[in-house]
Amino acid sequence: MRKMKAAVIGAGFMGKTHVEALRRLGTVEVASVAGISPEEAQSFAAAQGIPVAAPDYKAILADPEIVGVHICTPNATHAPIAIEAMKAGKHVLCEKPLAMSAAEAQQMVELAAKKKLVNATNHNLRYYPMVQQIRRMVEAGELGEILTVQGTYSQDWLLYDTDFNWRIQKKANGPLRVMGDIGSHWMDTIQHVTGLAITELCADLAIIHKTRKQPKVAIETFAGKTLQPEDYNEVKIDTEDFGMCLLHMGKSCRGAFTVSQVAAGCKNRFEFMVCGSKCSVAWNQENPNQIWVGNRNEPNKLLLKDPSMLAPKAAGYADYPGGHAEGYPDAHKQLFKRFWARVADPSLPIEYPTFADGLRGMQLLEAVIQSNKKRAWVKCAPAKGKK
Ligand SMILES: NC(=O)c1ccc[n+]([C@@H]2O[C@H](COP(=O)([O-])OP(=O)(O)OC[C@H]3O[C@@H](n4cnc5c(N)ncnc54)[C@H](O)[C@@H]3O)[C@@H](O)[C@H]2O)c1
Repeated sequence: MRKMKAAVIGAGFMGKTHVEALRRLGTVEVASVAGISPEEAQSFAAAQGIPVAAPDYKAILADPEIVGVHICTPNATHAPIAIEAMKAGKHVLCEKPLAMSAAEAQQMVELAAKKKLVNATNHNLRYYPMVQQIRRMVEAGELGEILTVQGTYSQDWLLYDTDFNWRIQKKANGPLRVMGDIGSHWMDTIQHVTGLAITELCADLAIIHKTRKQPKVAIETFAGKTLQPEDYNEVKIDTEDFGMCLLHMGKSCRGAFTVSQVAAGCKNRFEFMVCGSKCSVAWNQENPNQIWVGNRNEPNKLLLKDPSMLAPKAAGYADYPGGHAEGYPDAHKQLFKRFWARVADPSLPIEYPTFADGLRGMQLLEAVIQSNKKRAWVKCAPAKGKK
């Protein structure tokens, strides 16, 4: 069978993650890559063994052999590149947050529908087998009525004022940093697993470092380089380092979560707990192959990832047997597998987050901005398919 040809746009942390996951599918060839410059694309292509280093993303879009593109560039470029890609007839899998605003995301949703193109927002957190297990436990009523949700998405890679990245500045990142970067994942996942929509929220955001030392040369995400004074300029910061948010979900569920990029020791601590009238369940991305089940009248339990013991609809998200850990790269693979299966066969059901889910994320982020500004609760747009 001839492999479908994909191109990756963006040659940084996620570019590499996407290339590795795509190659594991077996049905897709990573045929081309573009970066911010021809030199960046060339060095990435050489390191990754990709046949074509495109001079820029426009060259990729002009190549009739490329069926779909993965957009792994900074947030401000998502919508313009995705819109051009769809106009060129390419299927698009785009990183989150989908766009810079709900209005931009709406345009992407409408164009994808008009051109009948397969479209996805990379909310990879949904694709851990144990997250799917929680979703199916909720669906089967094993938790009873969902009373509350709690959690955090906390990291420490921007703890020091010498830590810098394109995300720090609104221009490349969008108006929200920590909420947009990782809060978007938390809100997407909690709605996905509970089946409940966030109906209202109340947010408070904080800039911990009012200024940061910007390196004179760009640094790759998570590179953890140590800067000397001659290497940086002191710049004013306009995006938040920390955020907290109170939630109303569905008819009566209450919840709260925090997001941080300045929490020492938290490397990628995406954690949530769903508390129902029968039991609670909790999951942590730093230890993703287990679920904690909390009981009132019997001992608490740990459920371990083992496809032979998962709910049938969750088992298909685990490709390895019990005792064989699956993690971050595997979650991307599971999402990409479903996206590319639908590129090959559009009659298949949609089993990945679409641009419509990305738009929903942008609407919630705009509610966060409004709430923080007004210092008040804000009503959220209704969500299709959720209670
Ligand atoms: N789903 C996830 O788990 C996850 C994790 C991290 C980042 N992300 C998202 O992925 C995206 C990229 O983040 P990253 O951490 O890889 O950043 P990064 O800085 O490591 O990489 C970004 C790359 O894009 C390139 N680039 C910038 N403008 C470009 C353009 N116009 N054309 C082609 N290339 C261009 C840069 O040179 C760089 O190679 C962001 O939107 C981010 O929110 C998602």
